[in-house]
Parts: sequence; C-alpha cells; structure tokens
Amino acid sequence: MHEKRPLVEALEKFHSQKNISFHVPGHKHGVLSNLPEVIKDALSYDLTELKGLDDLHHPEEAIKEAEELLASTYGAKKSYFLVNGTTVGNLAMLYTTCQYGEQLIVQRNAHKSIFHAIELVGVEPIFVTPEWDSRTKTTTFVSANTIKSAIEEFPLVKGVLLTYPTYYGMASNEIKEIIDYCHTKGIPVLVDEAHGAHFKANSGFPLSALDYGADIVVQSAHKTLPSMTMGSYLHMNSSIIKVSQVNKYLRMLQSSSPSYLLMASLDDARSYVQRYNEMDFKQLLYKRDLFIQALQTIKLVEVIEVNDPLKLLIRVGSYSGFQVQQALEAQHVYAELADTYQVLIILPLLKKDQDYPFAEVRKRIKMAVDELKKETPIIPKDIRNKSFKSVSTIEMNMSLLNEKKGEWVPYVRSIGRIAKGILIPYPPGVPLFIPGEKITISMLTELEEWIDKGATFQGDHRLDEKLIYVVED
Ligand SMILES: Cc1ncc(COP(=O)(O)O)c(C=O)c1O
Repeated sequence: MHEKRPLVEALEKFHSQKNISFHVPGHKHGVLSNLPEVIKDALSYDLTELKGLDDLHHPEEAIKEAEELLASTYGAKKSYFLVNGTTVGNLAMLYTTCQYGEQLIVQRNAHKSIFHAIELVGVEPIFVTPEWDSRTKTTTFVSANTIKSAIEEFPLVKGVLLTYPTYYGMASNEIKEIIDYCHTKGIPVLVDEAHGAHFKANSGFPLSALDYGADIVVQSAHKTLPSMTMGSYLHMNSSIIKVSQVNKYLRMLQSSSPSYLLMASLDDARSYVQRYNEMDFKQLLYKRDLFIQALQTIKLVEVIEVNDPLKLLIRVGSYSGFQVQQALEAQHVYAELADTYQVLIILPLLKKDQDYPFAEVRKRIKMAVDELKKETPIIPKDIRNKSFKSVSTIEMNMSLLNEKKGEWVPYVRSIGRIAKGILIPYPPGVPLFIPGEKITISMLTELEEWIDKGATFQGDHRLDEKLIYVVED
C-alpha cells in the first residue's frame, strides 16, 4: 500500500501505449510545443480525462483511489486534490461555511485569499488579533482567550478561521483548546495550514490541526512537499460541515480541465509523506544540526529555531533582513522571505539517502556576510504589534465596498471615514486597517510611529504624500 501511487501508475500505463491524440490539450503530447526539450517531454504526460485517467470532479477510479489514500495518510474522513493552491481551498472553505451577511471569526493577518473570499461571499468578519513573539520577532497565533471572548460577544458566528502554523513555522498547541471550545458551541474550525503539509511525515514535526480535531484543513503540498506549484490538499473531518457542500464549491471554483501533471505530483507527494520514516527524520535533524552549527561559526550570524524544524531564521548582526537577502541573492542563495530583522529559509524534507549542498551554502553565506560588512547596517528598530484591538468588526460589508467610489484624502481627513484599501505594516504583518473598517485617531498615531521606525508597508498606500484611500462620502 505504501508504494501505491494510483494516479501516477494510471498515467504511466496510458503513456506506455502508442497513443494518437485527437483531443485536448492542443500541444498534442508536446509535439507542437517549442518549449525546451525537457519540458516537451513532460508535456507528453500532460493529459486529460481519457479512458483510465478518471475525472477530478467525479472520481471513480485512479483519482478516487489516490484521494482515499490521501485521506488515510492524513487521518481525514475525506480529502481532495486541489489544483489552484490553498487559495482555492480557502475560498471553498468560506463558501461552504458562510452565506452573505453571516459572521465568521477570522485571524486579522489571514492570507489575502481569505480576504478575497470574505469579499466574494459577503461575510461579516469578526477580526481577532494574533500575539507577537519577541524571540522570533514574528506575529504568531491567536490566543484561546481572544477566541473565547470573540465568541461570547458574537455567539451567532458560523465558524472560526485560523492560520496554523505561521509562515515562519510557529505552531502552538493552544489551537486544541480553541477547537475543543468551539466544538462545545457547535462552531466549526477552519484552518489554513498552507505551511504544514509535511507535519504528517513524522511525529517530530508539530501536529497538524487535523489531529487536534479541526473541521476543514487546507495545506499547500507544493510549499514543503515534492509537489508541483499550485498543488494543495483539502481535508475534512467534520460532523458539522457537509462533504456535499465542499464538493459543490470545489467543482465551481476549480478548472474543469485540471492538470494531470499537477495531480500526479500530488499523488507522489502523498506517497512521499507516507514513506517518510524515522531514519529519514533522524538524518534530516542530524544534517540540520550540523548546518546550524556551521552557520553559527560565521561571525555575526545568528540562527533562530522555530517550532517547525524545516524552517530557520537567519539574522546577521545589525543588518536588516532585506540587506541579508540581497547579499545572499548576490551569491545565488535564495531565501523564502526577508523581513526587517531576518530571512526565513525553508529546508528540504530530505530522506536519509538524499543530499543537499549545505557545505556550499555555508561557504556562500560566509561570502555574503563578508560583502555585507562593507555596507552600513540598517539597525532595525523594535517595531511590533502594539495596540490592535483583540476583537473588532467592520463598518461596511466588503462586497458592498466595490460599489462605492474611493478617494485619497490627507491623514486628518481620514479620521472616522471607512477605509477602501488595506494597509499592512511589516513587521508585524498585521493589517493596520482593512477595507470596510473605520479609521481612528489611534490608527493614525500608530501609522506615524511605524513610518518613523522604518516599517515597510504593503497594500493600498500613498504614504509619501500622507494620503489614505477611503470610501467617498
Ligand atoms: C498562510 C497562507 N495561506 C494561503 C496561501 C496561498 O497558498 P497557495 O499559494 O497554495 O494558493 C499562502 C501562500 O503563501 C499562505 O502563506
């Protein structure tokens, strides 16, 4: 059973026949393509719903079997392959749980796909603010107390949507208390576990939210498993949410021509998790420890470990993470992301017989640091999550905002107005205001402080001109 990859096998079987294509896709097994030869070769497997290859939206054969193996590997009642990333899983999760005007508790720093889903569905979000962790200098999880007070204040909520683990690999088991509490109230817990698809590979990783009893969990297999980009999983373990509803929305939101290459890579990634053994994990930790030790012998370099052993934070003296990232890229070492303080790297989920050029990486990081020393360090000031309200609502439904015109107004004139854009200071990566929220004096005071301390901003802004995007009066 462990070696089984039903969809990969079905594709190989089909491919081994002398097939002549009079069907889509138009590249005809790659023959018409002008892409490099290796890609053309791969296109000969880029097939469609042909005999023996099943259908993602009505699975009866290989895809059904592959998804059943997925569910049994992850301990879910039902699991799905997703071909548009966790983005589509998040959309489906919201459509399944809420209707227009219904309330949902949402982590304030949720991924943009969740904000898009809130807007598309017309959900009334109740935002809850996550905690700041000063060791990793990152925003982490929402406390159980915050969720409990949000539910006490808004008992009619249709669900609670959390991000677990964080992008930076922080994962608190407080999520169990949250899930248990919500279930006593009959409230489903939906989890964006984009960064936790590998947790099932070994008990040395944090537990998946599925193991803590979450109702729906979506994972980006492509982020940490050997799946192609856009490959994700959606798992269900709910006695509250109906499988038929999830089916319905996944059919609506996903392509009717899903990529077989992508789906085969999801089948392969599941088998990778299933075959990942104790020795693989031990060896991975061993190589990781040696790598950390080697990095720490470089003067100024500091390595910060997080809950997920596949992730490491690297800081270099008083240089900002952006400076470090640039210096690394000059040596052709590409980190996952940089922030004011550090860079985040994602290690490969190696099996015991696989190697990675850690010694070479150490050499290049040393060269990067030597180059960096010629620059002036941009000493990051201590900016962090300050006085966000722990529970808050919006004034205007995001779906209505589309019908309203927006205007750019000076800071002072924005007080009491409704934000039309989002503004996210980094750190902490938690939106200062969200479309539909009323702008307050304290938000503006904080904004000035963040600017003063050198935070960077994402979202809709013209801060150089001291203008804010609001709904026209
Ligand atoms: C927390 C979180 N959720 C969802 C997504 C979207 O995932 P995908 O790229 O698989 O659509 C991301 C992507 O970075 C993410 O970080």
